[in-house]
Amino acid sequence: MNLARLIADMPKAELHLHIEGTLEPDLMMALARRNNVTLPYATVEDIRQAYEFNCLQDFLDVYYLGMSVLLKREDFFDLAWAYLEKMAAQNVTHVEVFFDPQGHTTRGVSFDTVLSGLTDAFDKAERDFGITSKLIMCFLRHLSEDEAFDSLEQACACKSHIHGVGLDSSEQGHPPSKFKRVFAEAREQGFTPVAHAGEEGPPAYVAEALDDLHIERIDHGNRALEDPSLVKRIADSGMAMTVCPLSNKRLQVVPDLANHPLRHMLNAGICATVNSDDPSYFGGYVTDNYLAIAEALNLTRSEIVQLGRNSFIGSFMNEADKRAAVAHFDEFVDKAR
Ligand code: ADE
Ligand code: ZN
Repeated sequence: MNLARLIADMPKAELHLHIEGTLEPDLMMALARRNNVTLPYATVEDIRQAYEFNCLQDFLDVYYLGMSVLLKREDFFDLAWAYLEKMAAQNVTHVEVFFDPQGHTTRGVSFDTVLSGLTDAFDKAERDFGITSKLIMCFLRHLSEDEAFDSLEQACACKSHIHGVGLDSSEQGHPPSKFKRVFAEAREQGFTPVAHAGEEGPPAYVAEALDDLHIERIDHGNRALEDPSLVKRIADSGMAMTVCPLSNKRLQVVPDLANHPLRHMLNAGICATVNSDDPSYFGGYVTDNYLAIAEALNLTRSEIVQLGRNSFIGSFMNEADKRAAVAHFDEFVDKAR
């Protein structure tokens, strides 16, 4: 089987995906019309033209603007369902999905509206496609600790629908330590902690996320590679890193994909995984990310298989489900010679 076919056909999990980052321009336009929201774009083509980013903040400004069309429960359902239909077509069998409630509650949309629309879609995807999922609620790190505590309080009222808590938005100037107490309380309440770290921020932010937030997975983590002792620590811990190649390219975290550190991560023994981050904004869903990085780095079959396998190993499935998913993956790969 050629490598592109292997990538397309192998079972995969996606572990780093912001549901609001799957809002395609045509759905954005349709929801703007449905909800009478005025956008600063006249056409779908104008929206696409706005997707030129020099850094994370350039993207975030456009991303928060795009969210303004999401107002009702059915909007959140339509958003998530469009993503899940694509995942079914890409042989993705498990997803762990971020959502940004503060991006909505600050606009007057209730936490319950957001969560119920999303869970309607994820429950239907399990029934219709057999895609399993876990939701991870992110705190926006440019907002205050108090605001994060408010969000956590709302999450505590719906624990059965939210597996973990994460930390996203503008990294520089908002170190993980700002949310040390929020994460301590979240862990106490049973949420699994993760954080974006080392995307633009320094290696010290990755160390802080480990030491202060006690995260169980690192989102991005690219800049950890600047510190060899940190690389060894991450590799020895077995902790997964959710790497997003096309995002890194579009946000200029790497100059080009040929210089992406993914192979170094694997060679250092890190459980690296491939993900799409915000696929509508960065030009590709998870399979597109595998294809692009495999081509740019000339990845071998065994590196691709390792990445696919890592996507299940690094997931937050319970041990029995994880064992079954990895066995299913290994069986597929054995047959796909
Ligand atoms: N929110 C959505 N995508 C993000 C990213 N790549 N980094 C930080 N915050 C985000
Ligand atoms: Zn992200």
